[in-house]
Amino acid sequence: MGINFQEIANEYHTPYYVYDFDHITKQYNELKGAFKARKSLVAYAVKANSNLSVVQHLGSLGAGADCVSIGEVRRALRVGIKSYKIIFSGVGKRDCEIREAIELDILMINVESEAELIRVEVIAKELNKECRISIRVNPNIDPKTHPYISTGLHENKFGVDIDTAKRMYIRIKNSKVLKAVGIHCHIGSQLTQLQPIEESINIVANFVRNLKAINMEISFFDVGGGLGIVYDDETLIDTEEYGQVIMKALFGLDITVVMEPGRFLVGNAGTFVTKVLYEKVNGNKRFVIVDGGMNDLIRPALYNAYHKIEVVTSNTELSDCNIVGPVCESGDFFAKNIDLPQTQQNDLVLIHSAGAYCATMSSNYNTRRKVAEFAYENGETRLIRRRETFEEIYALEEDYIK
Ligand code: LLP
Repeated sequence: MGINFQEIANEYHTPYYVYDFDHITKQYNELKGAFKARKSLVAYAVKANSNLSVVQHLGSLGAGADCVSIGEVRRALRVGIKSYKIIFSGVGKRDCEIREAIELDILMINVESEAELIRVEVIAKELNKECRISIRVNPNIDPKTHPYISTGLHENKFGVDIDTAKRMYIRIKNSKVLKAVGIHCHIGSQLTQLQPIEESINIVANFVRNLKAINMEISFFDVGGGLGIVYDDETLIDTEEYGQVIMKALFGLDITVVMEPGRFLVGNAGTFVTKVLYEKVNGNKRFVIVDGGMNDLIRPALYNAYHKIEVVTSNTELSDCNIVGPVCESGDFFAKNIDLPQTQQNDLVLIHSAGAYCATMSSNYNTRRKVAEFAYENGETRLIRRRETFEEIYALEEDYIK
């Protein structure tokens, strides 16, 4: 059977996102299963898709949440994820965010610089509360992915080098309010090779052994996220092998494995559905113009990312075209120079693998409303976010017009 895209379009119009929750469940169970020999926590990277129902679904499976802003922490709490399963990461946390995270007593704050550690200590002292810390180590490993989503090299802004991390753990040891509970390392996203992960995990695991030798015990080993998915014809990392490599690196250490997957859990669960408005030919270039735009799904424009595109039509005659949106930018395209069948007005166009970093990266550019989102679960479809209204878009400005 599957999702009836046309039925949703008839009732709610286009564009919209729909997410297959059964796929999310399958992905969660596969990853969790790869670590069954150990204590583990899958902390879902909320940034990938922060729709409350998506986060709630993962929470109901047992997932925690990896958050990069206090807004994401609030989302996770809002749908019942327990504070002891929430991690707060990110290179630039504001004082008020740190304060709230300490007050909420979350599992750990992932600290990314000495300066941040000092701020966290000052705030914890003011609150007279203990704060559990994890330090993000930057292992200086090339993850072999798109440079914009590579994070594990010293030239990237993320984490600290091992020597700095060591100084930071010593500072924590000497602090009355800080407690070192974790170590963290995330080298990049959409990873399709295991070897850079293995190298970086080994570096960090050896560092944990060195810390142990000086009586500093770490309870959580956070391997980050990054597992890639198929957009086109990528060969993926085998999750069983991923589990084996990590567990081997941690051999002899009594430590809980934490993972922070985003894309792996939700990426291939999502489809962005838009419809054809018109076709036109400029010179000899064919354009298919659809009602979704770069403000709804920016990955092709931003990273030149590939998303498989399917036109729902019985027409089989293919010809080369660009598929573009209504936004006033030449960068507003979903694909360039692809073969698509001849389309008619209102034909649906499916943009696949749109569950991660699509709705969350959307904007109101051109005063376009954020689209509706649906869940598909056990053969049924339900609305999980209604389309925004224009009044909602400009509500925060209205009080100030003359
Ligand atoms: N943990 C940390 C510290 C991260 O920075 C990220 C992603 C994740 C976990 C989750 O990574 P994942 O499992 O989803 O690969 N907007 C880009 C992706 C940015 C990823 C940012 N960090 C895109 O559309 O491809």
